[in-house]
Amino acid sequence: MEIGKEIRVFAPASVANVTCGFDILGFPLSGTGDELSLIAIEEPIIRIKSIEGFDLPLDPEKNVAGVVIKKFIQDMNIKTGFELSLKKGIKPGSGMGSSAASAAAAAFAINELAGKPLSTKELVKYAMEGEKLASGIPHADNVAPALLGDFVLIRSYEPLDIIQLKAPEELYCTVVHPHIQVKTEDSRMILKKQISLKKAIEQWGNVAGLITGILTSDYQLIGRSMQDVIIEPVRSILIPKFKEVKESVLKNGALGCGISGSGPSIFTLSKGERNARNVQDTMRKIYQNIGVDFDIHVSKINKQGTHLI
Ligand code: HSE
Repeated sequence: MEIGKEIRVFAPASVANVTCGFDILGFPLSGTGDELSLIAIEEPIIRIKSIEGFDLPLDPEKNVAGVVIKKFIQDMNIKTGFELSLKKGIKPGSGMGSSAASAAAAAFAINELAGKPLSTKELVKYAMEGEKLASGIPHADNVAPALLGDFVLIRSYEPLDIIQLKAPEELYCTVVHPHIQVKTEDSRMILKKQISLKKAIEQWGNVAGLITGILTSDYQLIGRSMQDVIIEPVRSILIPKFKEVKESVLKNGALGCGISGSGPSIFTLSKGERNARNVQDTMRKIYQNIGVDFDIHVSKINKQGTHLI
């Protein structure tokens, strides 16, 4: 490890679940994300020098980037320390993979400093440590797409089996983030622990349809398959105007619509930028009318994932 060497990386925001794929499917956005700088230091400690953007713990044991680095140091038997600075571009509790971006950035940066002993896919397991700290559950449907780019399917958690799916070229995402905070941990707690066979059949039909639609660039099939009969009915009550937004965007350019991750953000997929912008206008009108602060992001599916800057 070269003492004093600095690595700077960008890790994108992401949309997890993609409606029917609870905990198993996600994709990253373009343009929005976290920047992390990591420097190897002689002292064998992890020091978080600064966090810009949002108020988050500087204690490495309580910080998602800190725990990712700690696990990597332990597994790789690294004797030096690290100093990190984080510039947050995603609000925690937004449903846009804020903790995942920091965790992905930390895993990517330390792997680079260590001379790339692991592949990007192998880093997913480290980034999942950050998710475990953030929400109690080491889910991979934000960190895997944030690291790898494109759609990512988590076929299995034990053993971890991660499959990257090439996004159709004309697929755009629009995400509206109403400024209320929903903690992933809380929004997982309200979920039912059991589901009926009837609902399971509907859900896995849709997951299979969505994956097929992505792989064959069948936009209509993608739209038809974006149905979540298990999680959305429970969580959507936490999101202001969810039903109205969904009904309106489906009439104004969206192929499908759902909750981004654990919410409160709502996302849509559209064919082409014009449709995605129509969705943006529709979302804006609804939230402007009720006086909730919000921001809206329109982007293509990010194919690059976490990278050096
Ligand atoms: N799959 C996770 C959940 C994503 O829905 O709880 C959290 O962003």
